[in-house]
Order: sequence, then C-alpha cells, then structure tokens
Amino acid sequence: MHHSISSVARNADALTAVWSGGERTELPYLWLRDNCGCSECCVEQTTEKRFHLFRVPSDLKPSTVSIEDAGSEDEAVSIAWPDGHLTRHRSSEIHGLLSPPRLDLQYWDGRFQPRRFDYGRFQASDRAAAEVIEEFLRTGVCVLVDAPTEPDSLEQLATRLGPIREVLFERIHNVMLDPKGYNIAHTGLAVAPHNDFTSYTWPPSVQALHMLVNECEGGESTVVDGFGLLNELRSDHPDKFDVLCKVPVPSRIFSEEYECYAVNPMVALDSDGEVRMMRFNTAQMQAIPLSEPRLGEFYAAYHELSRRVNDPGAQVNFRLEGGQILLCAGHRVLHGRTALRSNGHRHLQDAYFEHDNVRNHPGMLRRTGRI
Ligand SMILES: [Fe+2]
Ligand SMILES: [Zn+2]
Repeated sequence: MHHSISSVARNADALTAVWSGGERTELPYLWLRDNCGCSECCVEQTTEKRFHLFRVPSDLKPSTVSIEDAGSEDEAVSIAWPDGHLTRHRSSEIHGLLSPPRLDLQYWDGRFQPRRFDYGRFQASDRAAAEVIEEFLRTGVCVLVDAPTEPDSLEQLATRLGPIREVLFERIHNVMLDPKGYNIAHTGLAVAPHNDFTSYTWPPSVQALHMLVNECEGGESTVVDGFGLLNELRSDHPDKFDVLCKVPVPSRIFSEEYECYAVNPMVALDSDGEVRMMRFNTAQMQAIPLSEPRLGEFYAAYHELSRRVNDPGAQVNFRLEGGQILLCAGHRVLHGRTALRSNGHRHLQDAYFEHDNVRNHPGMLRRTGRI
C-alpha cells in the first residue's frame, strides 16, 4: 500500500501535508531542508549527512512547493529553496517517519519462564537470531541451550550481539568458588537479585551468563523483571517512585587492579518519562551522604523497592546447566542465584554487550536482505 499526499499548504514555518485519508502532518521547513537526501547534502559513499543547518537562515521558507508524480509509488513533495537548492521527499518516506518504531515490552512476574533457544541455530541462522533477539527485546531475558562448554566461547556471541563491552573485571569474567575472591559471587552465599556495575554511569546493558559446568546442588538462577516491578511501584506509590528517580546513590566496585565508583539515582527515565534504567545492587551500594535532604523519604522508598525485589512472587527460578547461556537486559532484568548447597564443581563465565547493538541487529539483517 502506498501513501499519497493530496495537498500541501504553506504556513509561517511549516508545510501542512494533507494525506489522501484526510490526516494532516506538519512538516517544518528546517526539517525538510535538514533531511534533504540529495548527493550534495549527503556523502554518497557513506550515506552520512554533509549539510549543516547553519548554512540556511533560521526563518528559511521555500520558494516553490509542488507534488510530483501524484498518486504513483514515486510521488514526492518537491521544494525549491531561495538559494536554488532542490529537495525531494517521497511521500512514502515521509509516511515512514510519522512515528518512531515502537518496541512492545512484555512485563512478567514469578510465574514466567524465559524462553529457550538453540545456541547453534542462533549463531547459524539469521532468521532464528532475529526471533531470539525480538523475544529478548520484549521480555529482557532468554536462555540459549546446547551451547559450547569451552571457556571463553562467549567471544563467539559478538557476531550477533556486537562487540564485548569490557569492564574492570577480565574481559570474560570467571565466577567460581574462590576463598580469595573479591565479590560475593565467589562465595557459596545466595546472591540476591541485582544488576551489575551500578558503579558505572552507563552500566553494561546486556549480560551473558554462560554456565560451563554445574555439578553443584543449589545455585539456582533467579531473574526479576525490574521494569515491571518499577511500573507497579509507580502506580501504587508515585511519591516513592519519584524519590528513587531523584536521590543520587553512590556505588562502588573493585577488582585486584581497579576500582570504579559512580553516583546516580536508582531509576532513570527516558524523554517520554518511561523507565529506562534500574540500578539495584545492594552489595555495591555505599552510604548516601547525610546532607541529602530527602534521605528519610529515600529510605522509605528503598525499603519498599527492596521488599518487592526480594518477594518470591516476583522471582523466576531455574537451574542453568553446563552449556547454557542466560541473556539478560542489564538495565532492566535483575539476576541472582540461590545459595550453593554442595562443593560440586560450578564454573560460570560472564561477559557484557550493549543493548544498542543487540536491538539493531534484526533491522540490520532486514535492511541488508539477509532475512
Ligand atoms: Fe551479577
Ligand atoms: Zn540537498
């Protein structure tokens, strides 16, 4: 189906396009000029923009406007500017830009189980990879099964998930019982749900937890949908939610060589006011300075959040066996594990990736005709 513009009217700083169905779209003159796709305004070799907005006056207006090839697939709004430059925007392309692509999130509680996908198919088949990633984008979690059990095979996921995001631990981080380990995951204790590296201002946004061997009793994996939980808290206690968005919380982590430290609220919103990031890591949280004027309110809100995160009704438990990889959206999904109950061999490796790379993989496969 192609989209057709039946008329355009010129206003002070925008065109009003009327679509054949009667809907109207405002097209600001500076937007029309800035997005000119001609070979002078773009670098043909790379498709990057060459035009800089300061080259035209801020009150730019077209000299002439017309609709060309009306009603055809190639229909376009054609504009001549006062300096003689010509811009053509196809109606179908304008239509495609009416609203940004939406990602539908599916929230879950303790009754959910992450979907399982075959590792080999994920790696080998573009179509299978797009299906896995789309599920991952909706729910923030999935499990790859029948994966290798050799150390460092997480490197192979870079073909799908983009480059590994390195942090102050080793590039591929080992988690096993270690009496000299510097973090609670190296003990046999339970690890309550948390997200990693709240001590970075931009924590890693995708985490892969790869079980190489699991011959231990206990140590079940736990995941919690942080976004689902925060949206419930927001509707039950808007005031508590607001405090969690405002009060900066220090967080610190260290390894044998490095230390990282950052101070940020536990909840960050995007420009539409939706939850974009949760930072919840009790082990790494440091004391908030006593000069914080909302300290009392913060603690009431944090108590409520801590109760909800640790409520068994919010937690999904499953056993990650050797050769399985748990993928978590690091800014959304909290992960943890129950206590280890035996001394059986258990070796987990962790690596991080970035959601911006993962999210764009299916679109890239489509644009390049691979699916
Ligand atoms: Fe962790
Ligand atoms: Zn141009």
